[in-house]
Parts: sequence; structure tokens; C-alpha cells
Amino acid sequence: MNVIDLFSGCGGLSLGFQQAGFHVALGIDNDAAALETFRRNHKDSVGASVDLFDAAAMDRIEELLEGQKVDVIVAGPPCQGFSLTGPRKFDDPRNKLYLRVFDAVRRFKPQGFVIENVRGMASLYGGQVKDEIIRRFTELGYNVVWKVVCAADYGVPQLRHRLIFVGIRRDLGTFEFPKAKLTPDHYIGCRDAIGDLPTRVDDLGAEMDSYQEAPFSDYQKLMRGNAVVLANHVGTKHTEHVKNVISMVPPGGNYKDLPPGVGDSRKFHVAWTRYHPDRPSNTIDTGHRNHFHYALNRVPTIREFARLQSFPDDFVFTGTKTQQNRQVGNAVPPLLGQAIAEQLSKYLKG
Ligand SMILES: C[S@@+](CC[C@H](N)C(=O)[O-])C[C@H]1O[C@@H](n2cnc3c(N)ncnc32)[C@H](O)[C@@H]1O
Repeated sequence: MNVIDLFSGCGGLSLGFQQAGFHVALGIDNDAAALETFRRNHKDSVGASVDLFDAAAMDRIEELLEGQKVDVIVAGPPCQGFSLTGPRKFDDPRNKLYLRVFDAVRRFKPQGFVIENVRGMASLYGGQVKDEIIRRFTELGYNVVWKVVCAADYGVPQLRHRLIFVGIRRDLGTFEFPKAKLTPDHYIGCRDAIGDLPTRVDDLGAEMDSYQEAPFSDYQKLMRGNAVVLANHVGTKHTEHVKNVISMVPPGGNYKDLPPGVGDSRKFHVAWTRYHPDRPSNTIDTGHRNHFHYALNRVPTIREFARLQSFPDDFVFTGTKTQQNRQVGNAVPPLLGQAIAEQLSKYLKG
């Protein structure tokens, strides 16, 4: 089963599909650093730099496919600046990247498609955007369903909610979202996700380093797999001021738990958040300044963010730390992608 991944980034969604047995033929993005990570970790796929704003993008994708059929299209289009001008005016140029997904489905006629977005997209313009997406794909011959899913339900140690659309060619049925694998009282917590990793407080470590302790949870064992090198686990040196402020935040707390006058420089809703050892993390974002380790007075390392996103330890991120943070934070957690892909495979032919 061949997949093309539009807006692939480093390939979190691609990895989920691979883990479910699909072959990702193409990952398409225009970010050089993300593509480098994609290529490094998806050796059987082509990671191609194509600007999806470009009118010729679909021709380029067709060339890259070299005659391979497309069974599934997956896409995580950026939706910053998404706009509806007038009733149902979806064709606003600002929405071009989203419209490319329709172009791709129209052109390559996959058996199914999966689109991932932030959950706010479900209620944008009073739900009109979501309804219009459904209407257009339905017109193309697909049964389309949508759901806001929580990654923690599928074994990811993170409370990440995302809107997912799944469309299946009409003759193949209507997709049902996979049932949750875990209930909230059994969600995987931060300690079980990252507690086996070296502390990186005095010794900040190196990009390629070694483990110091054995894994102590099933999740840690799953993430380590056969990895022998610990990649991307490098600590950040904070000022005494930052260390002092965060030392005052209790597990699971945030700026509201600080004494008056402390930490006043950051006061928005996720500022000075310390993870709770027994609960999943908050949503990993593309910044890296506001969330802190559940026990140590520092921000998580890239590897810790990657673990909280369910990237296995042998998935290595390349580029600067800022680029790596963007790649990890942008990604669909592979375990969530895998759950959707496994369910989707039940509907597909061939
Ligand atoms: C939310 S991320 C997708 C993450 C990916 N699905 C994953 O699981 O790792 C959106 C991606 O769209 C890419 N992108 C933005 N504008 C683009 C364009 N004009 N052409 C191609 N890719 C673009 C960004 O570089 C980014 O990697």
C-alpha cells in the first residue's frame, strides 16, 4: 500500500503509517531541515522539496511517483491565516495549501486519505470550514468522517488533541475511528515516558551519547527498541534566575503557583508549566521555553520531547536545536498515526 505524505515535516505521520505496514513512497515539504530528518529516518521513501504553493506542484509529484499507484494520501497542512471570505469562500488564496490536498486527491484518486489539523479548525467560522471540507471531498466520491482525538488514548504520554478527517472511497465503506487503547486513569505519565534518561543538569551531554540506566517501564522499553546510542539528549544551560523560578513550581503546576512577584516575565496560560510525573505532558509545541521537566529544573531535551511524542529513540533529529524543536512539535505522534493507519488498512483493497 503506497502512501504520499503532503506537508510531511520530519515524518511523524509517515512513521505511524510505516509502523502499520504501509510503504511511504513520497514525503513532500519545503523545509530543508525537516526533509533532511525525513530522509535520514525514512530510508525507503523519497523526501522531496516541493513548494505546495506552486501551481506545478502536482505535476512534480506525479513525476516523482514514477508510475507508482497511490493508495492513501496523508496531509497535515498548516492552517495559519486560514480564511473564509464571505459565505463559504474557501477559495481564498490564503487557503491554497489546504486546497492542494483536494488537488492531490482529485489527481491521484487514492482509496483513502487522512488530514490532520489543530482542533480549533473544527469550530473555525462556526464549523463552516470543517463542513466545507467534508462537502468538497464528498463531491469527489469519498465518505468523510472527522473526530477530535486525544493522542493519550492511543498510548502517547501527551494530552494532544487533534482534528482528524478520514475519507474512504465510497464503494469501500465509512471509516470508524479506532477505539481508545487506554482510559484516562491508565494514561502513560511523564516518569514512565522519560524517567530512564540521564539527568543532563551538570553534564549537558552530546548529540550522540549513551544511556546510563536500564529502562523501568514498558513504554521506555518500547521507545528504546534496539537503540544503543542515545541521540538528541542534550541539556540546556539556564540562568540561576530561571532555575530558581522553576524550582518553586510544584509537579503539574504553572505560573499561578509562584509566589507574588516571582516569574512575572511570563504570565500566559502555559507559562512556567512543570510536567507531572504521573500524568501525560501537555501538548508539545514548536517552542521550548515554557514547559519544564517533572523533577529537574530545566526544559526537556529534544529526546524527551520526542519520547512524549512517541518517536522511538532510533529516530534521529537533525538541524539546529530550534529546527529540531519545530520538527518534533509539528509532528503527528507516530503511535496515533499508527492507530489510524491500522484501522484504515481494514477498509482498503489490495
Ligand atoms: C504541521 S507540519 C506537518 C507535520 C507532519 N505531518 C508530521 O507528522 O511530522 C506542516 C508542514 O508543512 C510544511 N509547509 C508549509 N508550507 C509549505 C509549502 N508551501 N510547501 C510545502 N510544505 C509546506 C512545513 O514546513 C511543515 O513541515
